[in-house]
Amino acid sequence: ARFGGAALAAALLTATQATASLAAPGNPGEPRYSAGAPSLGDPYFPDQGNGGFDVRHYDVTFAYDPATKIMDATTVITAVATQDLDRFDLDFRGPEITSLKVGKHPAAFRRDGQELVITPRPKLKAGETFTVTVAYKGTPPVITDPDESIEGWVPTDDGVFVPGEPQGAPAWLPSNDSPKDKATFTFRATVPEGVTVVGNGRLTSKTTTNAKTTFVWESAEPMATYLATVTLGNFVVAETTTPGGVPVYTAVDPRLVTQSAGAVARIPDILEYFSSVFGPYPFDTAGAIIDRAPDVGYALESQTKPIFSSAPSVGTMAHELAHQWYGDSVSLGRWSDIWLNEGFATYATWLWTEHSGGATAQQTFNSSSNYGRAATSSFWQIVTADPGPEDMFGNVPYNRGAMTLHALRGKIGDTAFFRLVKDWATEHRYGTVSTADFVSAAEKVSGLDLKAFFDVWLHQKGKPTSW
Ligand code: ARG
Ligand code: ZN
Repeated sequence: ARFGGAALAAALLTATQATASLAAPGNPGEPRYSAGAPSLGDPYFPDQGNGGFDVRHYDVTFAYDPATKIMDATTVITAVATQDLDRFDLDFRGPEITSLKVGKHPAAFRRDGQELVITPRPKLKAGETFTVTVAYKGTPPVITDPDESIEGWVPTDDGVFVPGEPQGAPAWLPSNDSPKDKATFTFRATVPEGVTVVGNGRLTSKTTTNAKTTFVWESAEPMATYLATVTLGNFVVAETTTPGGVPVYTAVDPRLVTQSAGAVARIPDILEYFSSVFGPYPFDTAGAIIDRAPDVGYALESQTKPIFSSAPSVGTMAHELAHQWYGDSVSLGRWSDIWLNEGFATYATWLWTEHSGGATAQQTFNSSSNYGRAATSSFWQIVTADPGPEDMFGNVPYNRGAMTLHALRGKIGDTAFFRLVKDWATEHRYGTVSTADFVSAAEKVSGLDLKAFFDVWLHQKGKPTSW
């Protein structure tokens, strides 16, 4: 039975009043199928995410040959329906789909831009766990962002560099591409012998037969799709452990080993220092992937394996490692809050610099790339807590974001500030947060009304002069 509007409301009322044995049309126990929403409504990336289900696990099996650039993949998604579904979408911009099943049954599908529209038969009931198996073959695309940088599936001279923030995952992974829907992941990648595949989480097996090597990477902790990577190519691999016992796996392009040595050597110390300030490292493994991808030009905090498109400085390494707490474990619910990722990672780097004998956080705050910028600079004309998709990875969420935290520290004092940032990482571990949540947490820990403070730093344009 199908109802709409007032008729539906009336039927629901009647049905809840009726006894269970009187299964009237519209009884809440009877399925009412509809299509899952094609978007989760983020204004920065309106195609991202889909409604009607929640993904629990992605199992991605693929073969890739850097010589042909052909990916031959089968992804199995395990999800739970959150409504009765007669149709739902995934996000996918990858190559041709050769087969698609929901459970054991082939399902009709069509592609409309990033939307992969699937019609499951039998239909799915709310609460039901189901699988979607998508087979696809071809060359995944490079995605261009609003700020003109590239991501997705980026071929290098010896493999592929795979960054996914904010919208690159659907280049190669049919997914619910929203940081609001985290899941666990398994990658099983087969490549020509000699090529190394580095994914998130732990390497649980590596086997070679007939000149092909299969790497299996498992992520046991929940991860947002944009943090997934399966970067592959020629790498020099090294493994070590932090003083606190976290395994560290690094993969470095052989041409960058010398230049990267300083930053790589500091990984255990940086993780140890951040654990002391922010609480325990949130994942069961750590590491880094340092590759040569000159057209990318940025680094990304891919979960447990931050990726660098060139040899990083120690500061860049610290930035990406700080994101493991702020951004990866504690996730954004909407992209306009990006300062919660970038401001925290930037401020963490200021703290590391001071801790390791460089400039103090106060000196960095005062510098000419921060508070020392002239009041007339265009820097002050972008709103920290809503920079827009073109400036979300520009200076403002990073530097004004970090300045906001330093100013907050001055306002509420060191004891309250350091308790706040540690509690934030602990209480929201693997969770989703907003700027409003942070404001409440800061008010709670300090006992102060901070509305005007955050207004000046986060929501208003112009150089703050008093706060
Ligand atoms: N979150 C990354 C970092 O600062 C930057 C990602 C930039 N991505 C982009 N598409 N511009 O660590
Ligand atoms: Zn960052």
